Amino acid sequence: MNYQSLKPCSLLSPVPSVMVSACGPNPGDRPNIITVAWAGTVNTTPPMVSISLRRERYSYDLIASSGEFVVNLVDEKHCEALDFCGVRSGRDVDKFASLSMKPMPAEGMRYAPAVCGLPAYLSCSVRQIIPLGSHNLFLAEVVGVQVRDDLMNEDGSLHLEQAGLVCYSHGVYQRAADVLGFFGYSLAKPDVRRRRLAGYRKT
Ligand SMILES: Cc1cc2nc3c(=O)[nH]c(=O)nc-3n(C[C@H](O)[C@H](O)[C@H](O)COP(=O)(O)O)c2cc1C
Repeated sequence: MNYQSLKPCSLLSPVPSVMVSACGPNPGDRPNIITVAWAGTVNTTPPMVSISLRRERYSYDLIASSGEFVVNLVDEKHCEALDFCGVRSGRDVDKFASLSMKPMPAEGMRYAPAVCGLPAYLSCSVRQIIPLGSHNLFLAEVVGVQVRDDLMNEDGSLHLEQAGLVCYSHGVYQRAADVLGFFGYSLAKPDVRRRRLAGYRKT
């Protein structure tokens, strides 16, 4: 098999593309949404995530000054809104109003709202800002998580595979839709494997 070399770049794919909402700490500050693809999970205990932002983003100062942001997971229905928040700046438009979306109080946050209607959100408290080059990395602890009712079963289990989440791969938004396997399925007994996979495919 032959391969071609590309200039070194951040080709890691697919990645989550999320709507990050924030608000400054000053009275009269307007909540804003920025699309972020350079987002990741960085620790389990305590739960921590990162986002990388260019210094010139309007959201940068909102997050740096409030010390808070909310990572909102995005479903197919909101894919166009996701794109819009990545091509317009809060300096010029009220993105919540333009998209007819509503901010709602986010668990554990003083300033940053969540975006109402999206499948789930993570409330994040900034612990460190690390300059990297083009972007600064915000390392944050997840201090609250909420999931939309319809993604929870009565037994309290979460079915995020039913959310129709969107991912991002080299400039393109894609479905993260079909379940191919589950954690550890490569080692699961054939009957367990069959039963669990059939369960996911029914949904
Ligand atoms: C799919 C996508 C992913 C993006 N990812 C990032 C990112 O990880 N970090 C960043 O600083 N900007 C990213 N951007 C660009 C910002 O979302 C964009 O500049 C936005 O208009 C900034 O909004 P603001 O000025 O209201 O903060 C992305 C844009 C798109 C469309």
